[in-house]
Amino acid sequence: MNIQQDISLKPYNTFGIDVKAAHFVSVSSEASLIEVLSSEEFPDRFILGGGSNMLLTKDIDKLVIHVNLKGITVIDENDDYVTLKVSAGENWHQFVLWCIDHNYGGIENLSLIPGNVGTAPIQNIGAYGVELKDVFVNCEAINIESKNKELFDLSACEFGYRDSIFKRKAKGKYIITSVTFRLTKKDHKLNISYGAIEAKLNEQGVNEPTIKAVSDAVISIRQSKLPDPAVLGNSGSFFKNPVIDKQAFEKLKETYPKAPHYVLGENEIKVPAGWLIETAGFKGKRYGDAGVHKNQALVLVNHGDASGAEIWQLAQRIRQKVKKCFGIDIEAEVNVL
Ligand code: EPU
Repeated sequence: MNIQQDISLKPYNTFGIDVKAAHFVSVSSEASLIEVLSSEEFPDRFILGGGSNMLLTKDIDKLVIHVNLKGITVIDENDDYVTLKVSAGENWHQFVLWCIDHNYGGIENLSLIPGNVGTAPIQNIGAYGVELKDVFVNCEAINIESKNKELFDLSACEFGYRDSIFKRKAKGKYIITSVTFRLTKKDHKLNISYGAIEAKLNEQGVNEPTIKAVSDAVISIRQSKLPDPAVLGNSGSFFKNPVIDKQAFEKLKETYPKAPHYVLGENEIKVPAGWLIETAGFKGKRYGDAGVHKNQALVLVNHGDASGAEIWQLAQRIRQKVKKCFGIDIEAEVNVL
């Protein structure tokens, strides 16, 4: 066990926040992970995956365990499908590209999402009409208390919109070590109904789209709207899109007849938080080094040296203004620590 002291976590979180870990260890095998968990010297631990969905607001006075398990294994296949078991520390986007190279379909719409494979189920990552749960078979996770490995199948994960059991009952109790996916080998079910993808494919003159063409379109859309964390620190969407009832929506429409929205059910309407934040006047605004992205108001950014507390302060300011302007509560999507 190579445990280091006083390590900056700046390279380990996509917001680029400079907080310190009192103790830090990177584990690249399940055996060393169990060894670390069994050590009585560090009973308080903090699990770090790709660091892409968190805002760190203070130093961590615990043992930070960086999950760095690697490997992709074909565990089953036939003419139509392949089943892949992927270690938690694999970078999500590199895995998507690997699948496209192998002509495995199902996750092309999830191209360029930051983070690692092992953290993808926690918030059921989603984009352009596809969610992780659509291709998910199961995941293995080590129970931190018992150190036993447990298997979570689709229903056990209780997936919802940017949500799973790992954000609720099982929060902080497990370390996901691998995820198993079922992908198509032929007759790929392309999901191009999301307006922006269709438009991009038309613009590129693609008549018979392939998974590679869809991935390229998604990459191009994301690059035009979403900042690259390597260039400008961010954590993707900072807030979830709120769901309001019909009565609240009718009220919103009185002032904003053209408010964008998606009808989910008879009495459930989702309103894009990006639109609420932009309409409340925050798009492109900057307070010191904490800011709101100029192309997508749902994304908060670190222009350089913002602290986690400054980003969190900005998030609070936005929440209060959105509440005041529209009477709608917006909730953080990232984990704030
Ligand atoms: N909008 C604005 N102003 C903005 C941003 C958006 O008016 O600054 C409006 C757009 O005009 C559009 C609507 O809001 O009518 C929706 O915008 P967009 O298509 O960009 O999607 P989103 O709802 O803002 C969600 C996900 C993204 C995902 C996209 C595409 C959440 C919290 N976010 O954003 O996920 O890439 O859809 O599927 O659901 C992430 O989770 O990190 C993420 C980037």
